[in-house]
Amino acid sequence: MSFKPADNIQDLQYFGEFGGVNPSISDSSTYTFLAAKSMMDTFEGNLAGCYLYSRHSSPTNLYLGQALAAMEGTESANVSASGMGAITPTLMQLCNAGDHIVSSRTIYGGTYAFLKNFFPKFGVNTSFVDITSLEKIEAAITENTKVLYCETVSNPLLEIADIRALSKMAKKYKLKLVVDNTFSPLQISPAELGADVVIHSLTKFINGSSDTVGGVVCGTNEFIDSLRNVADGASMLLGPVMDSLRASSVLKNIRTLHIRMKKHSENAMYLAESFEKDGLTIVYPGLKHHPQHDLYKSMSNKEYGFGGMLSFDAGTLEKADELMELMQKRGLGYLAVSLGFYKTLFNAPGTGTSSEIPHEEQEKMGLSDGLIRFSIGLDNDIERTYLEMRSCMQEVGVL
Ligand SMILES: Cc1ncc(COP(=O)(O)O)c(C=O)c1O
Repeated sequence: MSFKPADNIQDLQYFGEFGGVNPSISDSSTYTFLAAKSMMDTFEGNLAGCYLYSRHSSPTNLYLGQALAAMEGTESANVSASGMGAITPTLMQLCNAGDHIVSSRTIYGGTYAFLKNFFPKFGVNTSFVDITSLEKIEAAITENTKVLYCETVSNPLLEIADIRALSKMAKKYKLKLVVDNTFSPLQISPAELGADVVIHSLTKFINGSSDTVGGVVCGTNEFIDSLRNVADGASMLLGPVMDSLRASSVLKNIRTLHIRMKKHSENAMYLAESFEKDGLTIVYPGLKHHPQHDLYKSMSNKEYGFGGMLSFDAGTLEKADELMELMQKRGLGYLAVSLGFYKTLFNAPGTGTSSEIPHEEQEKMGLSDGLIRFSIGLDNDIERTYLEMRSCMQEVGVL
């Protein structure tokens, strides 16, 4: 594959209002028009280059959207105040009362809760399926299905979705394939593989500094314009707009994303291989025994490796808690939700980021109580980290 997402970001050039190498930050909620007619044309969406009101669009947010669209190879993108602020308007834009969604059953807990508990209030129901089984997905499609929803690399079980095959199925049944690519920015480019809409929580790797929440929807001009439509656009009407100051800081962080992703992947691979040699069962797409290792390779932009997320089962929740507390005490990282930070973050998703998923569903999907999800940091000396982590594991009896 010859798609080069980091080059696309690098090639963007900015000439700020005063010649600055960073675009000026638009510090305004509303914008003037010299002619009243121009305001009307802008309302109707007919005047490019004019701004109306910052809930609709703002120059800084458009710059950030442009960089993310370049990264995902889509025509356009709309940034939002959080990842959920990207996911929920997208699904509400695509579905009407009576419609149906087929979703992967291993997805972020908040998305699961929205689909399972909230969306049915508006007459939209979801079937949750094992995303690695194309037969089960196809069997779940009904005449009311409008959307196929998945995460490229799933949270927290790190199952890999076959985007090419899902795209084919979506086309066959005239569905929209919506892919959350939060765990694999740069590594996998879902739109290049046939996804219709690509979403990120910018909160994670893309921003990379755990100082804000943010999100983005990447898609065609037509779809992104529909989200922002003043009359019936879900993003415009629900209002999850990102602040311009934040958009500006996220844009600056994106420029180092390629360097960070390579380091996250390199460190995660080192730890996965080392702990596997020690006898632990590590879930990491870079390991040959991962059930979708070859699939991942067939879809990925090779230079970014297999990502910064790995997990393993400490046996029981008590053991997982004991280990995480000790690792935090030793300075190896933080017992915290979220991912994509320079320090390693770890949590037990069964009681943390996936706690919205009922316990019996967790069991069915293989999410055990003792599972620890790691977002591996940018540690300069990963061997030192490994040795310290191993000694923690030995101390609590996991190794
Ligand atoms: C895969 C994935 N998608 C979406 C979200 C939601 O993003 P946010 O917390 O920015 O709203 C998360 C958050 O943890 C996530 O892990």
